[in-house]
Amino acid sequence: MKKDFLKCLSFKDMKKIYIANWKMNLLKKDVIDFLKKIKKRKYQSADLVLAPSFPYLNQVSDGLKNSAIKLAAQNVATQEKGAFTGEVSIKMLKDFGVRYVIIGHSERRQIFSETDSMINQKVKRVLETGMIPILCIGETQEEKNSGQRETVLVQQLRNSLSRVENLANKKVIIAYEPVWAIGTGNVVTESELDEAYRAIKRAISSLAGSNFFEEKVMFVYGGSVDEKNICDLKKIPYLQGFLVGGASLNVDRFLSLVNA
Ligand code: PGA
Repeated sequence: MKKDFLKCLSFKDMKKIYIANWKMNLLKKDVIDFLKKIKKRKYQSADLVLAPSFPYLNQVSDGLKNSAIKLAAQNVATQEKGAFTGEVSIKMLKDFGVRYVIIGHSERRQIFSETDSMINQKVKRVLETGMIPILCIGETQEEKNSGQRETVLVQQLRNSLSRVENLANKKVIIAYEPVWAIGTGNVVTESELDEAYRAIKRAISSLAGSNFFEEKVMFVYGGSVDEKNICDLKKIPYLQGFLVGGASLNVDRFLSLVNA
């Protein structure tokens, strides 16, 4: 860890949220080790969230008792319950004290063919159970190259949040994750982020009012967040947190982002 990114100014007083998306990584012994270490380490005031794979939800849930760190799931079934082999229901997640659910990650959209309509059903499941969706949206490289960023973001948002009952009173985290930035080392520029933020703010305000956007929506960024870019990203005033993949697998790396 280099000294120059250990400290940088945070422009906002409010706590930022750091969501560790472990994806299909870490085995039982790694999870035990991570939990043991994170509880002993000191970190700057921030909200930390861990999103383990399903088999370790119980373990992480137990491990986080008496800690301020919160639990997230990486996915949830669209259906409520029943004959859906291999699926995990929202009530099962609730049983384990899950607070947040990542929905619409581009890996789910692209590799597992999740559509906006499935994502919309998942958002509704999460909200009606009193949890908070971390709704991921973002354009592909091709869409970016052809100038479609805004169109794609607006469409994903409208479809995913369509007909959500009482949306204006619900809490939602919007994770802007450009597909071309995920796991590639290519991070968004500030002007690209500004453009995405403005488009998202407009779209959400038109869905449920600007008060909803200001008061209930958290705007976070994900895509190759690491020690090299975290200080610059943290200076962007409207950015309220980060969804971190690769750099969240090691507790020291993850906390170096929080403490940067
Ligand atoms: P990355 O993943 O940090 O490894 O790019 C982020 C994500 O997919 O949420």
